[in-house]
Amino acid sequence: MSYLKGTTVVMSQTNDAFAKAEPLDVDTAVSVRGVSKNYGEVEALKNLSLDFPRGQLTSLLGPSGCGKTTLLKIIAGLLEPTAGEIEIDGKKVTGPGPDRAFVFQDFALLPWANVMRNVSFGLELRGVAKSEREDIAQKYIDNVGLSGFEKAYPHELSGGMRQRVGLARALSVDAQVLLLDEPFSAVDEQNRRKFQEDMLELVRNENKTFLFVTHSIEEAVYVSDQIAILLPRPSRVSEVIRPSSFRGTNVENIRRSPEYLDIVDQIWASLRNYVE
Ligand SMILES: Nc1ncnc2c1ncn2[C@@H]1O[C@H](COP(=O)(O)OP(=O)(O)OP(=O)(O)O)[C@@H](O)[C@H]1O
Ligand SMILES: [Mg+2]
Repeated sequence: MSYLKGTTVVMSQTNDAFAKAEPLDVDTAVSVRGVSKNYGEVEALKNLSLDFPRGQLTSLLGPSGCGKTTLLKIIAGLLEPTAGEIEIDGKKVTGPGPDRAFVFQDFALLPWANVMRNVSFGLELRGVAKSEREDIAQKYIDNVGLSGFEKAYPHELSGGMRQRVGLARALSVDAQVLLLDEPFSAVDEQNRRKFQEDMLELVRNENKTFLFVTHSIEEAVYVSDQIAILLPRPSRVSEVIRPSSFRGTNVENIRRSPEYLDIVDQIWASLRNYVE
């Protein structure tokens, strides 16, 4: 039960699509404990606690400015919290580590390096030999549909393609925890669906833990084991929802099911007052 501490779990008496609130055997990979972050006067996060189950995908949904990127950066060890702490596998985070990979909202590619170098950069930092890292990078370049663009530079790519470079880079380092900050926002609808499928396959087959920021309620319901709804001012976790009963269902069937539409409506009801 510990991973639900400090949060409210939404359950519907009438709706089976909401999983029960007692996933007791959950193994926590990432634990956020009482984290606050101030940027000068701005309280971006206030006493936020949330646990992320291992081998599962948790989406963070919330209005712009509620602190989603801030939270991911703190978990990544790129930002220090003002108060509180992060534990990964029970060990306190004190900086970045090879157990975590980050896909940044603003791509964060090296502008002077081509696609191959950008994708293999994480492996380069880890001291993997050139030929080996290029083999690995090539696999993920192919996976994200960028074959043939190995020698292109970021300024020669579209926004969606740059995002795919960031995704390939994060996947190639084989981290256990993937921190994805709106990784598909600039990707077109067809590719987005393919990426959602690929991501679910990684969750299912490789037991990786995904922390996934999205603005799409539909996407969150479709891909998530759990959804944490964050509300701003002060930023807090308002609800944790487990829509996992959809897992493995064909996407078209999900989108047509009444349970799915109910969950989307409920999330929308929580968020609508905060959307400008
Ligand atoms: N480096 C910074 N300096 C000062 N304030 C910041 C900084 N980074 C973020 N903030 C503020 O902290 C709050 C949370 O920002 P954050 O980027 O984490 O939100 P977000 O939920 O990721 O938003 P979005 O959905 O638009 O990406 C906002 O009020 C933002 O203005
Ligand atoms: Mg953000």
